[in-house]
This record gives sequence, C-alpha cells and structure tokens, in this order.
Amino acid sequence: MEIRISKTKEDLASAFSIFFKSLVQSDKVTHVALSGGNSPRKIFDHLAENHGEEIDWTKVNIYWVDERCVHPLNEESNFKMTRDHLLSKINIPEENIHRMRGEDNPHEEAKRYGELLDKLLPAENGVPEFDLIVLGLGDDGHTASIFPDSMELWDSEENCAVAAHPTSGQKRVTLTGKVINTAQAVAFLVTGENKAKIVREITRHQGDYKKYPASLVNPDTPDFIWFLDEEAASEL
Ligand code: 6PG
Repeated sequence: MEIRISKTKEDLASAFSIFFKSLVQSDKVTHVALSGGNSPRKIFDHLAENHGEEIDWTKVNIYWVDERCVHPLNEESNFKMTRDHLLSKINIPEENIHRMRGEDNPHEEAKRYGELLDKLLPAENGVPEFDLIVLGLGDDGHTASIFPDSMELWDSEENCAVAAHPTSGQKRVTLTGKVINTAQAVAFLVTGENKAKIVREITRHQGDYKKYPASLVNPDTPDFIWFLDEEAASEL
C-alpha cells in the first residue's frame, strides 16, 4: 500500500488524473470501475477538463463499483454523477460505458452485472480482473456499498451483491471483495478532515479498523494507492 498526500483537493485531482492516464494509455483495452459519492466529482471534472483529449477513450471501458437502486436520472444515481462530471465531457463510445441498472430489480441486476463482468473482463483464478478500481471511504468505514453491518457481503462467492444503506435502507448493487482484491490497481480517493481518524486506523491497523469494510481492501498489487488530501491525512 502506498499513500500519496496532496496539499489540496485540486492537487489530489491532478495527482490522480496523471495516475489514471498512465494506466489507461496503453495499446490494450482497459477496464476501469468507478465509485460514486461526493469525492469523485471535482476529480472527474479535473480529469475530463485537463486530460480528456489526451486519452484514447475508445480503449477505455467504464464500469461501476456500486450503484444506488434509483433511476439513472435521479440525483442519487452514481451513473448520473459520473455522466455529469466525466462521461458527458469526453469522447467515449457509448458501447464502452457499462452502467449498473439501478432502476431494475436489485437481485436480477446483481446477477446480470456479475455475468457481464465474467463475459467482458479477463479472469484471474476465475475472478474478473479490472485494470483499475477506484474506491471511496465512507465516514463509517464502508467502501463500495459494503457497510459495517453487512461485512459478510465482502466474502460473497458472487461478483456482485445487493446491499442496503444502514440508515436510509436504500438498496445498492455492489462489487464484492473478491473482485476488488483481484484488480491490477486500486485507488482510494479520500478527502476531508472527517475521514482523518478512520484513514489512520485503517492504514495503520489501529483502533477498531477490523470493523471497517475498507480495511479488507488488500489487492496483491504494487498499484494499491491511497490518494489523500492533507485534511484526510492529518492524523498520519
Ligand atoms: C456510494 C459510493 C461510496 C462512496 C463513499 C464515500 O455510492 O456512495 O460508491 O462507497 O465512495 O460513501 O463517499 P464520499 O466521497 O461522498 O465521502
């Protein structure tokens, strides 16, 4: 695990964009899964506006780490957020965008999306292998849509599982632990002082870190990077 600390959110957006570009700028087709939430918004804006034209998006396939079970035009939709802050600003073929259908039956969608990954991605020990998975960290230590009250989903045999937000009850479709830990590269994007304690506990294996699903992220790759701003790194 590597920790890269940037002075500001904008610096972090630049650092991540350069890392992203280095991973997708190859002759081969790459498969990238993105997370939702708030932290990626400004980072996707920066990636699109500063590097969008430098990347051959015909070779980049975009997937989601998780989705809220809402309509794709709903403000809660991770697809909508990504389209507004990245996809609508870059020249990527429609067929390279593989969204989770939040509007469909969650269990049927988890099955469909899991099979789609088996079909489109190379496999490592029978598990779909992404080139890059981008993760966020919730205040409660969740990542993807695996929450502290449903950590058993991490060990699911399936590629995707159905979760529920612990307070709102909102249904989610999420990648499971085996897919996340099989990726060639994993990047956490974490900003803000409210995440500092949990970042220290997870990265230093201190306190209650075992209670946090994000502590289970441990891919066997040198490209496992925590992109933090100074606030999120303030307890390190
Ligand atoms: C989601 C995400 C989730 C997110 C964390 C962090 O759908 O909400 O994929 O895992 O990454 O909740 O969210 P923030 O960046 O908004 O703090």
